[in-house]
Amino acid sequence: MAKLSLSSSFFVFSLFLCFLSSSSSSSSSSSSSDGLESYIVHVQSSHKPSLFSSHNHWHVSLLRSLPSSPQPATLLYSYSRVLHGFSARLSSLHTAALRRHPSVISVTPDQARQIHTTHTPAFLGFSQNTGLWSNSDDGEDVIVGVLDTGIWPEHPSFSDSDLGPVPSTWKGECETGPDFPASSCNRKIIGARAYYKGYLTRRNGTKLHAAKESRSPRDTEGHGTHTASTAAGSVVANASLYHYAQGTARGMASKARIAAYKICWSSGCYDSDILAALEQAVADGVHVISLSVGASGSAPEYHRDSIAIGAFGATRHGIVVSCSAGNSGPGPETATNIAPWILTVGASTVDREFSANVITGDGKVFTGTSLYAGESLPDSQISLVYSGDCGSRLCSVGELNSSLVEGKIVLCDRGGSARVEKGRAVKLAGGAGMILANTASSGEELTADSHLVPATMVGAKAGDQIRDYIKTSNSPTATISFLGTLIGPSPPSPRVAAFSSRGPNHLTPVILKPDMIAPGVNILAGWTGMVGPTDLDIDPRRVQFNIISGTSMSCPHVSGLAALLRKAHPDWSPAAIKSALVTTAYDVENSGEAIEDLATGKSSNPFIHGAGHVDPNKALNPGLVYDIEVKEYVAFLCAVGYEFPGILVFLQDPSLYDACETSKLRTAGDLNYPSFSVVFGSTGEVAKYRRVVKNVGSNVDAVYEVGVKSPANVEIEVSPSKLVFSKEKRELEYEVTFKSVVLGGGVGSMPGQEFGSIEWTDGDHVVKSPVAFQWGQGSSAQSF
Ligand SMILES: *[C@@H]1O[C@H](CO)[C@@H](O)[C@H](O)[C@H]1NC(C)=O
Ligand SMILES: *[C@@H]1O[C@H](CO)[C@@H](O)[C@H](O)[C@H]1NC(C)=O
Ligand SMILES: *[C@@H]1O[C@H](CO)[C@@H](O)[C@H](O)[C@H]1NC(C)=O
Repeated sequence: MAKLSLSSSFFVFSLFLCFLSSSSSSSSSSSSSDGLESYIVHVQSSHKPSLFSSHNHWHVSLLRSLPSSPQPATLLYSYSRVLHGFSARLSSLHTAALRRHPSVISVTPDQARQIHTTHTPAFLGFSQNTGLWSNSDDGEDVIVGVLDTGIWPEHPSFSDSDLGPVPSTWKGECETGPDFPASSCNRKIIGARAYYKGYLTRRNGTKLHAAKESRSPRDTEGHGTHTASTAAGSVVANASLYHYAQGTARGMASKARIAAYKICWSSGCYDSDILAALEQAVADGVHVISLSVGASGSAPEYHRDSIAIGAFGATRHGIVVSCSAGNSGPGPETATNIAPWILTVGASTVDREFSANVITGDGKVFTGTSLYAGESLPDSQISLVYSGDCGSRLCSVGELNSSLVEGKIVLCDRGGSARVEKGRAVKLAGGAGMILANTASSGEELTADSHLVPATMVGAKAGDQIRDYIKTSNSPTATISFLGTLIGPSPPSPRVAAFSSRGPNHLTPVILKPDMIAPGVNILAGWTGMVGPTDLDIDPRRVQFNIISGTSMSCPHVSGLAALLRKAHPDWSPAAIKSALVTTAYDVENSGEAIEDLATGKSSNPFIHGAGHVDPNKALNPGLVYDIEVKEYVAFLCAVGYEFPGILVFLQDPSLYDACETSKLRTAGDLNYPSFSVVFGSTGEVAKYRRVVKNVGSNVDAVYEVGVKSPANVEIEVSPSKLVFSKEKRELEYEVTFKSVVLGGGVGSMPGQEFGSIEWTDGDHVVKSPVAFQWGQGSSAQSF
């Protein structure tokens, strides 16, 4: 475990996607030396006896009432804002007693979650004098809470020279330590805290990973500095990684303030620590929470998902919670953080490439990508071998036969180990360079890496051709030509990354997830001074900016946009902000074609990209929004089967449970979501969804008419088809009827998935909702 340690979390959700399956550090079954494990305990707050002055006193007393031998139970954190309850170190005796306690709703093991830019502003269409930046003062005074691996405070992205005083609403703190003096915080980083009680319990209460971790908010990993600077970094001129991606770096909301909550450690990010940070972020007064963290497998049920629970609490306080969808694509139902109150963000490419092409001896050129910054290969051709013929198809360290590899370029297959690690294996075996070839599962997605040897990555098709060439040629040769940074329309962008986790939503299929895509491939942003760009121990280099990929990178783009929208429209709820981003997203590439899925080379669809790519300037002025009040989320929870008292895991105030009786919500699909997802159990089936739209445009008398795109096997009817708003009528309701009209009958002849859209326009605005349909056995569109 030690070797995987510090960077394993990072590997999983961003850089080294191939680690996904091998790093299962999230298991909750490991037992600590004293037999105590950490748990999250949800309690009914209304049961607190009045003699206890605080929830904390009550929680301590509850724990004291438990058997104290062989070990007493110990409290980690008390929670009272995003949930009611506590986390504690408990034995099996303790958990059994607590589960019988009438005030206790649930006792769940503390789980580990995993952590899942110069040019992106221009790609997103930002310009200085119009649109979202100028209408939001660059997000000045909006506070973004970044829950991640901490922050590297000396980074120029966190300069406060352009900023006014710390917002008076801020109630947080700068937790100082030997390597995090008070000067680490300023008018940009206005708060910084570290949470490690859950993590330390997993480490048997011993010290942190000695040389590499810090008990302070300092980021020794890089990921947190990268995400924070992407969301809200200040403007930095002439930023680059070596000579790559040179230009002005700036966060999406370059004048927003950052509150860094360090929750992720070498073996992951523990629920107890995540919830403690969410509690504190609410109390501190953040406006947006950015969480590039999620479950490593499929999304846990809402009541077992600390991020879903904590995000619900934060949403109740009016805070926008933006999360990464995960890097477990391209399989279906892989998206995490899929609760409807969360903004779920997938990853796509931008129009910037770091080209490094392979030229083979037969004169063919294959497009590749690389951030290699050392001495180049000669222009002349060098002998080329396939790793599979040299002892290790996946180029594992120590397994390549150096007498076959020495002085040659090695073609390695992707998978099994970190990409840069393979280059290291080639280098150790004496190889001159590496071509890293995708296999079918990663398709044509190219991820640029700061390789330690001259190396480039090519897509699966090129990989197949180069392997064929090696097999059929008597003396195969190649070289790699490093072309640096290329910006332009070829290849078209955005395209969905193969790693980006996808829908359908496996918990609530009638809620479309992910919500949207945003830049997440080869993103330049700030980096820690503690590790090199590859994150490998053997990499002694230190860089100010690094280029990495993952939905971890796309999430903070959207967090920053949410901060800008929050500033431009202080009265918008988190749901209204999401709606604005969803209904203005686009689903075509800059070539004019439908956005491509890099995993297949085919058109992407709403199960892969949600509504499509964010369009910040349009989101500023969406025309209509689909708003959702907290009590409708409560009704949603009832609609998906939560009952009293279990539902109290989400609610602090039991009176909110009334919403389940009073709400108009008939089914989960009726939630006033800005997109649609319909599940048909059989042909001929009908689903009806109700929606309410609020006019937020400048014309109070706007008249909107509907336009519908139906797929072949569905009829869509919207009633009414015209919405006439007025000063008195800012909100209007409509109902959609979806009818599956598949002919032929029988499951076998049913289409699997189809897609359409519902679009309201008033001449000025286009309010577009994607609609996804799936046909499946037994799942009825009407009952969830
Ligand atoms: C904690 O202690 C248990 C039991 O002694 C051991 O198996 C486990 O490896 C320890 N964990 C760490 C991180 O030291
Ligand atoms: C920009 O940065 C590069 C690389 O760090 C450096 O070589 C160059 O001199 C800088 N240019 C300016 C104008 O500061
Ligand atoms: C490495 O390759 C050489 C040349 O083909 C061969 O003689 C040798 O046995 C190989 N070594 C191993 C460990 O396979």
